[in-house]
Amino acid sequence: MLQRMDKLLSGQGVATRSEAGRLCRQGRVTVDGVPFLNAAQKVDPDTQTIAVDGTPLNCKQNLYIMLHKPQGVLSASRDPHAPTVLDLLPDHLRRRGLFPAGRLDKDTTGFVLITDDGPLAHRLLAPKSHVEKRYRAKLDKPWDERLPALFAAGVTLEDGDTCAPSKCLLLEDGDNPWAEITLTEGKYHQIKRMFGVFGYNILRLHRFSIGGVLLDDALKEGDCRELTAKELALLGKK
Ligand code: URA
Repeated sequence: MLQRMDKLLSGQGVATRSEAGRLCRQGRVTVDGVPFLNAAQKVDPDTQTIAVDGTPLNCKQNLYIMLHKPQGVLSASRDPHAPTVLDLLPDHLRRRGLFPAGRLDKDTTGFVLITDDGPLAHRLLAPKSHVEKRYRAKLDKPWDERLPALFAAGVTLEDGDTCAPSKCLLLEDGDNPWAEITLTEGKYHQIKRMFGVFGYNILRLHRFSIGGVLLDDALKEGDCRELTAKELALLGKK
C-alpha cells in the first residue's frame, strides 16, 4: 500500500514528520538505492526497499523469508537447548511475530519459509490447499520399482493413519538411491515413516521447493533472503 514517506518514517519512529522532510532533502533517505528527496511523495514499503543512511527499514506489512536450514537447527520459534531457524535471521529481518510456516526435522535440510503472515502460512500448510512441498531423500537400500505406485495409492502408516496420494520417483540409482517425493500435507516425520512402512531408512532429507518456489541455489546453509515479488505470486500473494 502506498504511503507518504514522512508518514512512514514517523510511523517507524525514525523521525518526526518535519525531520523526515529534512532527512529526505539531505539525500539520506533512499528507495531501492536511489535518493528520495521529497518526503511528501508516496512509496510502497511492501515492494520497495527504504533505507536511511544506508540502513534498510523493516516497514513491510509482512515479511516472507526463504531460509536454507542446516542440520541441527530446529524449525521452532524458540528453544532453550538448540538453535532455531529464527536464531539464524540477520538483524534487519528480525521482528516480533515471525514463525516458520511448517516444520522440518532437526536433521532435515532445506527450504523453510519464515513469515508473520498467519493466513498465508495456514493456506500453505492445510492439506486441503494441496500446496506441493518437494523433497530429495537418500535411501539406505536399493530402489524398489513398486514405490511410485505405492506412494500414489496413499501410504498407510504404522499407526493406521493414512497419507494422501503422493509422488515418489527415482532420481539417482545405486546402493543408496536418491528419490524425489512430493507431498501436499505435513504429518510428523511423514517421509521417514512412509518409507519405514516399506523397510527403508532415510539417510538424508532435503526440501527444495514449496508451492512452486525453489530454494535459491545461491543460498548456502544457514543463509536467507526475502522472497521476490515473483515468488510471492507463486504462493498466491500479489
Ligand atoms: N518428512 C520427514 O520425515 N521429515 C521432514 O523433515 C519432512 C518431511
